[in-house]
Amino acid sequence: MNSSHQLMLPTLRSLSLSLGIIVTGLTRKEDILKEITCPNCSCQMVPPILQCSAGHLTCVDCTETDYDYCKICEIDEICFGHEHRLESLAAFTLYKCKWKDCDGYFSVKEIQIHKQACSKRAYKCFYCSEWEGSLEELSEHDESCKSKSYVCTLLFTTKVTVRGDDISSEDCGPSYSLVAYKELFTLDFCKVSSGIEVIIYNYGPPSCFGWYHYEVHLQHSEDLTFPHNQTYTYKYKNSNRPIVEIPNSDIIKFGSLECFKITVQIHKLDGDKKKKNTEKYFKVFKWPLYA
Ligand SMILES: *[C@@H]1O[C@H](CO)[C@@H](O)[C@H](O)[C@H]1NC(C)=O
Ligand SMILES: *[C@@H]1O[C@H](CO)[C@@H](O)[C@H](O)[C@H]1NC(C)=O
Ligand SMILES: [Zn+2]
Ligand SMILES: [Zn+2]
Ligand SMILES: [Zn+2]
Ligand SMILES: [Zn+2]
Repeated sequence: MNSSHQLMLPTLRSLSLSLGIIVTGLTRKEDILKEITCPNCSCQMVPPILQCSAGHLTCVDCTETDYDYCKICEIDEICFGHEHRLESLAAFTLYKCKWKDCDGYFSVKEIQIHKQACSKRAYKCFYCSEWEGSLEELSEHDESCKSKSYVCTLLFTTKVTVRGDDISSEDCGPSYSLVAYKELFTLDFCKVSSGIEVIIYNYGPPSCFGWYHYEVHLQHSEDLTFPHNQTYTYKYKNSNRPIVEIPNSDIIKFGSLECFKITVQIHKLDGDKKKKNTEKYFKVFKWPLYA
């Protein structure tokens, strides 16, 4: 690997001038690379670059699904601060894709999008921790995984429809695992005392939770003129596990269980919508983004 490909580093003087900061002690590209490497996952960190009160640096993905865990302190509910100096250097860094066998280098604005869609990306099994492989291998493994307790094939879709009378009143079900936009999700349909809960679980990296938007449609299964169809959108919560609640008061309008169906639609956001949604997830960090 030619190290001149790692960074597009301007002279220290122009860097200091353009950022209005004084760069001290950073005289080599290798030093910057080392500094922006996450101590936990060894990825090059993309802003927000965070620091706990004990001074440990971390990338967003290592703060876990609630963005508040320090893996070195092993404590959650942490309010991370920004490492502004390193965040400033991000714009001058070329990021290497983290996946094995991928040799791509990208700017800070491109790297997240590439890592998500990279053809060399490794996926983990939903059910056993040992297995890792490509998306194609995953669907094969999923059929034979010994840790999988229920029968349901991995779906490649962005939309799942379930009939009212298929939703279990005893335990949560049916459950689906699916691949949408090259990301892994599970959907659970649960009957609870107040109605039906649709639980959507995003298995992607926490830095990308804000890239998706979820819509749940409650519709009549046959009657095209039925006036009480409803659409629910997931209300923002700081978690990878959006829950959409469909109240009994809406369900009874359909008469009986076989008369309605529930469709979950996953949307992938783009441009400003994606940026705004990611900012909602990241609002704990109070920082402008490279979404
Ligand atoms: C990263 O965090 C995980 C989970 O807390 C831990 O098992 C692992 O040892 C950490 N890795 C490093 C290099 O600290
Ligand atoms: C209600 O849902 C049904 C079934 O999906 C659909 O065909 C119909 O057009 C909807 N009716 C209204 C008024 O939106
Ligand atoms: Zn990390
Ligand atoms: Zn810490
Ligand atoms: Zn790649
Ligand atoms: Zn498995």
